[in-house]
Amino acid sequence: MKMFSMLCTILLLCALTAAQQKKEPTIDQQVQNLLKKMTLEEKLGQMTQVDYDAIKNTPEDIVTYSLGSILWGGNSEVADLSAKGWAATYDSLQQLSEKFRVKVPILFGIDAVHGHNNVDGAVIFPHNIALGATNNPQIVERVSMVTAQEMKGTGIHWAFAPCVAVARNERWGRTYESFGEDPELVKTLSVAHVKGLQGANLADQGSALACVKHYFGDGGTTNGKDQGNTETDETTMRKIHLPAYIDAIKSGALSIMASYNSWNGNRMHGNRYLIMDVLKGELQFQGFVVSDWNGIDQLSANYKYAVEQSINAGVDMAMTTSPRGSFNSYDKYISVLKELVKEKTVSMKRIDDAVKRILRVKIEMGLFRQKYSDKNLLVEVGSTAHREVGRDAVRQSLVLLKNEKNLLPLSKNAKSILVAGKGADDIGIQCGGWTIDWQGKSGKVISGGTTILQAIKNTVSKETEVTFSPDGSGADSGDVAIVVIGEMPYAEFMGDRDDLTLTPEDALIVDRLRAKGIPVAVVLLSGRPLIVTNVVEKSTSFIAAWLPGTEGQGVADVLFGDYAPTGKLPHSWPKTMTQVPINVGDKEYDPLFPFGFGLTYSIEKATK
Ligand code: GLC
Repeated sequence: MKMFSMLCTILLLCALTAAQQKKEPTIDQQVQNLLKKMTLEEKLGQMTQVDYDAIKNTPEDIVTYSLGSILWGGNSEVADLSAKGWAATYDSLQQLSEKFRVKVPILFGIDAVHGHNNVDGAVIFPHNIALGATNNPQIVERVSMVTAQEMKGTGIHWAFAPCVAVARNERWGRTYESFGEDPELVKTLSVAHVKGLQGANLADQGSALACVKHYFGDGGTTNGKDQGNTETDETTMRKIHLPAYIDAIKSGALSIMASYNSWNGNRMHGNRYLIMDVLKGELQFQGFVVSDWNGIDQLSANYKYAVEQSINAGVDMAMTTSPRGSFNSYDKYISVLKELVKEKTVSMKRIDDAVKRILRVKIEMGLFRQKYSDKNLLVEVGSTAHREVGRDAVRQSLVLLKNEKNLLPLSKNAKSILVAGKGADDIGIQCGGWTIDWQGKSGKVISGGTTILQAIKNTVSKETEVTFSPDGSGADSGDVAIVVIGEMPYAEFMGDRDDLTLTPEDALIVDRLRAKGIPVAVVLLSGRPLIVTNVVEKSTSFIAAWLPGTEGQGVADVLFGDYAPTGKLPHSWPKTMTQVPINVGDKEYDPLFPFGFGLTYSIEKATK
């Protein structure tokens, strides 16, 4: 009997050992196995990201340098902008990683900041300021989940989003990329955005890697100057600008983009204390840090010194943007970094740390198992179901600031409605910056979607006469005028403004119509609060609609009572420019409308 039980024990141990050997190696074991095989050049290749426009004419360099990553920057684009066209280009580029000696898939990044916004026919969602006005993490998660699905349909799997800036001065051209002025609001919605993009499991087909940006303090620069200097003590810097990073890391974010701004004169891209000690040490960030567009170059005119400063500060991947042989291009970056390693001014330990971080993320994303576009998700790009999510986000983002005599909700059976303003029938103005083009532009910039004018016509009865006059001229009477005015598209520093007063042309439309005694419902399309004090006084009702994106039907839903407004201001709304910056919690606080303000109305009236 004893022999038998011993035999069973031995057999059991053999079986366990065999099972152990068959067991998948851990992620760290896989990383170590890859690292051991890689040459120094291959490791430096992993730390190099190249803009598509800089590499499309020399695709062989992707293999020569075993590049770790390719991005499409603001104005880079493929020849065929359809989702199919993007998928085809993506797959052909990813195919090249099969020729690498050590076959590490390429990481592809893009600014999918309000939908997969470089792709013609994609759903363009409201920009972050509008999502901030929803104050609803659920809708933010749904929006970013759909964004990830539309991205993965084209194969692209890394969104340079969410921007978790806490925008404190509306002069800043990137105010609309921020969820708002309050750290708590920004933190909550940033976590929702990361969860929506990355899903339950980062390796799932519909998941994409988030990139929390820009680390950090980008929304707090003096005078709201883009890429400027955030001048404050460490306590305030941490209190206002760090909470979103702390919680985004806890929720699984695995890439972070360094910021152009400086903190008290010290550029973030070279700030070893804040990246190495705080982000990677104190906050235990396990992912990797990518530079911003040529962000390393800004550290010094001496590029080699700039690279040394940035990599030693903790930047793991350089976003390089110029073709081979030109200034600070990807081949220059690699050769300079190689020299620094040979001279031991950048240690092999630092290189291995950066490469391990990058490899670990690629493994966690499942790229080694499935790295091509997904046909099932491709057919869903711009689908009705996705557009419904966009419409819901638009409805929830509108903030009703005034509603004299309960003008809203408007009747769907009105006899005549005048629609005026440059934004009424312009999908490009509705979408704003980062839409097909970096700066965005007015006009029919993207296929699909619904302008506000179209949405109004979709909503009212057949008997209602809807006339459109961009400048409001030619109208002598009407039950009501809907005036859609605001900002023309812009992005980044191109949107920095010293004066946020509404243009005289826009104000004149309201004046004209009020002078004729026509009640005026103003819909403001803007990336931030503007100085509209006089215009609000002359308006009967006034809605802040921010930059709603392609689904203009959501605006009509609120105008005509299919959705009672729930939006709340994510920013304090100034009376005059002399008040800016004005933020909740300021000692002197006397805005036109306070942070968190927003009216509603009763739906019953709409049925009349
Ligand atoms: C830009 C922006 C950053 C963007 C990157 C790539 O300059 O600062 O938000 O993700 O470059 O386009």
